[in-house]
Amino acid sequence: MVFPEYRPRRMRQNETLRSMIRETRLAPEQMMYPLFVLPGKGIREEVSSMPGVFRLSIDQLAKEAKECLALGVRSVILFGLPEKKDALGSGAYAKNGIIQQAIRELKNKVPEMTVATDVCLCEYTDHGHCGCLVGETVDNDATLELLSKTALSHAQAGADMVAPSDMMDGRISEIRAVLDESSYHMVPIMSYAVKYASAFYGPFRDAAECAPQFGDRRSYQMDPANSREALREATLDVEEGADILMVKPALSYLDIISRLHDEFDLPVAAYQVSGEYALIQAAAEKGWIDGPKVMAESLLSIRRAGADIILTYFAKEMAKLLRA
Ligand code: PBG
Repeated sequence: MVFPEYRPRRMRQNETLRSMIRETRLAPEQMMYPLFVLPGKGIREEVSSMPGVFRLSIDQLAKEAKECLALGVRSVILFGLPEKKDALGSGAYAKNGIIQQAIRELKNKVPEMTVATDVCLCEYTDHGHCGCLVGETVDNDATLELLSKTALSHAQAGADMVAPSDMMDGRISEIRAVLDESSYHMVPIMSYAVKYASAFYGPFRDAAECAPQFGDRRSYQMDPANSREALREATLDVEEGADILMVKPALSYLDIISRLHDEFDLPVAAYQVSGEYALIQAAAEKGWIDGPKVMAESLLSIRRAGADIILTYFAKEMAKLLRA
């Protein structure tokens, strides 16, 4: 296969040939769209650090979901801003909490939409950590009970899938057991299996008002320097009963997505997080990059690395581009 016998350019000379040998594709149904839900009525407010992303009150959800469906995006993942926060994050598992209401509204009005929920306490605790505290430490095992209560309350409200993002040890088996005991054995768990302590979550913490009030999340989220540890994390979640393994963030962790894809036979999801979105939007706004092209290339790269599913704030925009 040496030049001039093999000329790679032969198969690149027109779009028909290029598309014939294209190895990776992206379809709207592979993207999951994150939604931020807040209390009130008639609210649709843009997140300042995430242009194009809106925080919605419950009455605005059905319209948004219908728009997604019309574009072929068939799943959303919900994040909630509760009315009140407390030390134990009780708003996360309240029967009439913001997410529980949001799920019921969506499943009532737009039943075809697959509704996944983020299971975590950081949006609901007054200290902003992802679990309950002993002193200034997040108490792993005491948090498990609160997380499984949260997941169960989401299932009871009608959630189609739960996605624990807290990074406590042992949460997948605990949540699986509690769901199964209550006959929710058909509700899949998408585990944020490999979630790094990343600076790319900055804009999300504005959107969801969940920045830690002291310290940081490095005692529970993973060290960005580590890759073999990602395999240990994923192995645990497989053994504990996860249905989908997620890597988060995406673009700086393509090697991790690729390793998980090669090492495990479960579907792999990747979360293109708020900071990744904000970088592209900001540079595009300045006219420094071609926004839609960079968006498409970044999403395709995440697919090429091995992600089956991508959680992305670009889901609607990308689906529109795929249509055009
Ligand atoms: C909750 C959670 C976070 C994100 C998803 N779930 C924030 C965090 O861990 O600090 C980040 C998503 C994003 O940045 O888009 N624990």
